[in-house]
Amino acid sequence: MDSKYDLLGSKSVKKFHLSPKPKPIIFNSKNGPSSPKKIKFNNTKFETNSLSVTNGKSKIDIQEQKKKLPVFQKRAQLLNLIQKHDTLIILGETGSGKTTQIPQFIHSARLQNNGRIGITQPRRVAAVSVAIRVAQEMGNTLGVGEIVGYTVRFEDVTSKRTKIKYLTDGMLLREAIADKLLMDYTVLILDEAHERTIHTDVLFGIVKDAQKNRKEKKLTPLKVLLMSATMDVDHFSKYFNNCQAVYLEGRTYPVNVFYTKTTHEDYQTACIATFFKIHREAPANHDVLMFLTGQEEIEAVAHQIKILAKDPDVEGPPIKVCTLYASQPSTQQMTVFQPAGPNTRKLIISTNVAETSVTISGIKYVIDSGMVKARTFHPSTGLDLLKIQRTSQEQAWQRTGRAGREAEGSCYRIYTKAQFEMMQKTTTPEIQRANLATVAIQLLALGIHAMRFDFMDKPPKDAVRAAFEQLKRLEAINDIDKSDLTPLGKNMAQFPLDPRFSKVLLSAQNYGCLEEALTIVALMSGESIFLNPPSKREQAQTSRQKYCSALGDHITLLNIYREFNNISQNNKRSWCRDNYIHMRNILYAREVRTQLADVCRRCEIPVSSCGSNMDQVRKCLLTGLFTNIAEIHKDKQYITLDKRQVVTIHPSSVLHGQLPPLLLFTEVVQTTKCYLRGISTIEREWLDEIVPNYIRSHNIRSKD
Ligand code: CDP
Ligand code: MG
Repeated sequence: MDSKYDLLGSKSVKKFHLSPKPKPIIFNSKNGPSSPKKIKFNNTKFETNSLSVTNGKSKIDIQEQKKKLPVFQKRAQLLNLIQKHDTLIILGETGSGKTTQIPQFIHSARLQNNGRIGITQPRRVAAVSVAIRVAQEMGNTLGVGEIVGYTVRFEDVTSKRTKIKYLTDGMLLREAIADKLLMDYTVLILDEAHERTIHTDVLFGIVKDAQKNRKEKKLTPLKVLLMSATMDVDHFSKYFNNCQAVYLEGRTYPVNVFYTKTTHEDYQTACIATFFKIHREAPANHDVLMFLTGQEEIEAVAHQIKILAKDPDVEGPPIKVCTLYASQPSTQQMTVFQPAGPNTRKLIISTNVAETSVTISGIKYVIDSGMVKARTFHPSTGLDLLKIQRTSQEQAWQRTGRAGREAEGSCYRIYTKAQFEMMQKTTTPEIQRANLATVAIQLLALGIHAMRFDFMDKPPKDAVRAAFEQLKRLEAINDIDKSDLTPLGKNMAQFPLDPRFSKVLLSAQNYGCLEEALTIVALMSGESIFLNPPSKREQAQTSRQKYCSALGDHITLLNIYREFNNISQNNKRSWCRDNYIHMRNILYAREVRTQLADVCRRCEIPVSSCGSNMDQVRKCLLTGLFTNIAEIHKDKQYITLDKRQVVTIHPSSVLHGQLPPLLLFTEVVQTTKCYLRGISTIEREWLDEIVPNYIRSHNIRSKD
């Protein structure tokens, strides 16, 4: 790093804290204010002329705010187009009212006939918050028995009367397992279509197929709308039988784009420095939106900014720091929408949630770290990792656009122009990056073979094959080339889980430990239940010491959950506080557990508990996670049996500092090194008992 441009001089935030006038990051002004770049859509194939402004007559009494939305002006024309076309692509700037208004338009014009309008969202946060908003707008409360509802994983707030239903892509996919023709809906809106998650991509194929089959069978037709703020229209249109696209012209204002003059590897610090640069210069009511990658990072930066803001040498108005990420409590999430109050600057630090799914008003400045956390699957290692990586140019432009929604704004990119130019143009669809085993098994349950599915972009052959091989090893299928699931596989597909975890639950009956398996799988499916505030890390670990098991992290989780359950309702909160347990996350795990127990009941797995016999639990885990075994290697390192990868025990593990010969792990996380996370000790002889074939085909040194 060229320290000349590193405003923190010695590269430490502390230094910044001490320095009254830190040297600013140098932004390249040639590409900045002198040549403002207006955000434009790729409007190759839009029909804009038919959408000239007229007054759409609304039958329902919507509030003033709704009338101001760009989409409101186009209501009549839009309805006309929706009526005319079976499939329609709708493009419009983020915040123009697509997600909240279009379903209401359709509903008030009764275009759905007697059916239901389904609107998918890639993110749970968006599905829930939008449904709440729309219910408010329609003047009715959300909930069972009402017009507007939502369904997300482990939560269904709909009834027979629900006409407008927001749901995650994953939930619609599960519904498609029960009914391929999706007869519950007459209109399906696939929102945020550009996100290209695996679920959206699979849904594209299923919905396209359902529409075609319903037509052929002369059943109630299915109308399909694809909505986004940014998408490759040609690519989508081609896949959806050359369907029409419309562009809702919304208002956007020019945004000045600045690049840093030199690269900044420590982008977090550079983001902080840039924030204070803006803070010194801008009027108080100009709010700032900062894009970072995930919870931990966002909390750390927020914390740092709060500390720095207290420095008497820092000029500028008081700062209200808000954070926005998926796993956050919804009450906290809602604070980002509230104004900061007079003479106060609001800073929102967000993941890519605020790119297109969630709109916040008052943003004048955007600070774009240029980074995002995304799922990447490595066919060579078989690992599915969340990795911090560069965004695409498309994402960068979306982030920039957030600064120009209400007036002219500025975007500070914490990367150079050259780095921007090296970014991928668009985001690679997740299906080309992810572990496909869950998708493959869910598709098989629909009678679809992923190797022969009509994907918009085909996933890499290697990855699909790896998924099928995993399913075969888990005994979910007998033949990689056939679409038949074994009876076990059929049951596995019932669970909204990675097939390895479903296998664990289904094996529990053989080990008499369903209660324990449910707890552990539920805890592994959600966010961490441990609170480790940086300043009290040791204290937190000491307080939880009494629950730690020498057998590893899974049993430790089980001990904690059992204790939590034993504590009386009134004392749960204080118990969580004293033991540094994340109350909301553990309650969420309990909810997940209930839902998984329901699926087990449907699969007729008898309820059982193994009491204190923890061998049974670890054996049961092994039935699903046997590809996640590591044996001791050298220099306190381990080597995985499956891919011969050299790994180390993660410092957060209760087994950190010990060297058991053989381990079972939940996942490999890659930061500076490859770490094993979620670890249990296992016995050598269990392998021959439980997975003899697998062990025979994988060398293991610790035979004796
Ligand atoms: O989908 P699109 O990005 O086009 O916009 P939308 O989500 O329908 O949002 C339309 C407007 O509703 C936004 O400009 C927000 O100001 C407002 N909104 C809100 O205040 N609270 C929400 N939970 C959702 C939307
Ligand atoms: Mg939207």
